[in-house]
Amino acid sequence: MPAAVLIGAQWGDEGKGKATDLLGSRVDYVVKFNGGNNAGHTVVVGDKKFALHLLPAGILTPGVVPVIGNGVVVDPEVLFQELDAIEARGVDPSRLMVSANAHIIAPYHRTIDKVTERFLGKHQIGTTGRGIGPAYADKVNRVGIRVQDLFDESILRQKVEGALSHKNQELVKIYNRRAIDVEDTVEQLLGYADRLRPFVRDTSLELNRALDAGKQLLFEGGQATMLDIDHGTYPFVTSSNPTVGGAVTGSGVAATRINRVIAVAKAYLTRVGAGPFPTELFDEWGDRLRKTGFEFGVTTGRPRRTGWFDALVARYSTRINGVTDYVITKLDVLTGIEKIPVCVAYDVDGTRFDEMPVNQSDFHHAKPIYEYLPGWTEDISGARSYEELPANARAYIEYLEGLIGARVSVIGVGADRDAVIARHDLLSD
Ligand code: GDP
Ligand code: IMO
Ligand code: MG
Repeated sequence: MPAAVLIGAQWGDEGKGKATDLLGSRVDYVVKFNGGNNAGHTVVVGDKKFALHLLPAGILTPGVVPVIGNGVVVDPEVLFQELDAIEARGVDPSRLMVSANAHIIAPYHRTIDKVTERFLGKHQIGTTGRGIGPAYADKVNRVGIRVQDLFDESILRQKVEGALSHKNQELVKIYNRRAIDVEDTVEQLLGYADRLRPFVRDTSLELNRALDAGKQLLFEGGQATMLDIDHGTYPFVTSSNPTVGGAVTGSGVAATRINRVIAVAKAYLTRVGAGPFPTELFDEWGDRLRKTGFEFGVTTGRPRRTGWFDALVARYSTRINGVTDYVITKLDVLTGIEKIPVCVAYDVDGTRFDEMPVNQSDFHHAKPIYEYLPGWTEDISGARSYEELPANARAYIEYLEGLIGARVSVIGVGADRDAVIARHDLLSD
């Protein structure tokens, strides 16, 4: 059987965790391929609310094998905390596999994330402060520490020395901080080895063998298309590839084995952290979306910035990722709005743009051009079939479908696990 990729189509927090959980036992492996504990996924199972950061949301389904691929950056401390937390709630984490090639977020990466953000002052990215950018920078700079390095003390010491020689100069001379001790760091990293060892695998080999044996894989993206280091709103992005290509490089499973790309988008839009956001609302509508949609970050608790649905962003995601199916979440949050604005184009200093501008300055100047769709007042949170939705809610979905260039297969009408409407099967239709 083939592999499906599930990604965020906007600026994150679209409800990817819930969508992954929804596929539940239909998949055999859920693979995280990018990012780290900058992600925050909320999954509501019955009266239990799970907040996951580093672990793939698939871990909540018995029988599913959760995999942390080589493209992920792993903070072992966070991994252990999260394993403890889900174990305490009765979930067995022993099936987890972690790639030997995944990079480690060391304590010094967190320090550097924080000091560099502070140094940027009003130009800061608003990172999650989890050391994500510095860990990926070391990977690209070829001074990173990989999971497999934790099992060889002399190599580890050599690598930590290499990584810290330059960083300590920076910390002391530029940032006026104390140097980080090599031995303390080696000691700390070695302390993770025993607990990590049973999970460590050649995950590319495992996943390809699983595909050969007819298993169904689901790649679960962290972050989202507009936060992609290559395709997002650079430099206000994360340091990995949350787009479909990231699933290939971040797992060692080839592109030819992927047959579906599922994108998750909210029926409106949110963003956390700094950067351009043309449909952002600064008035009471923005507050209303934040309040009704409970738009506060799972990772940092920050209030999310809110705005109307941006069709250019979604159509761009369809193109970059080759999306086959959309999951549109939080349609319930729009209930009661008389006329719902949808951004269909941008006005950039007098010029109309029907597609995302490639030039950063144009995007910073983009003013949304809206079409207004009639709303609905009926409570839709109990609807479980498309026909049960009010005609205007269906018209809204079909209007989005036309603009984004892919079918809307699933619609979210509430936070609960079962609060969804399926129009097409995400894996087989
Ligand atoms: P992720 O990072 O993409 O996994 O998304 P988050 O978990 O950060 O944020 C999505 C939030 O929306 C979570 O609190 C979900 O419980 C919630 N959610 C998901 N789908 C729906 C929906 O259809 N309606 C409502 N009201 N909430 C939803
Ligand atoms: P999920 O998976 C929303 C944002 C941060 C910041 C930028 C860079 O829950 O959708 P980083 O710490 O990655 O270097 O921060 O990216 N960001 C997210 N925003 N959802 C996320 O993950 C995010 N992960 C990172 O707010 O603007
Ligand atoms: Mg999130």
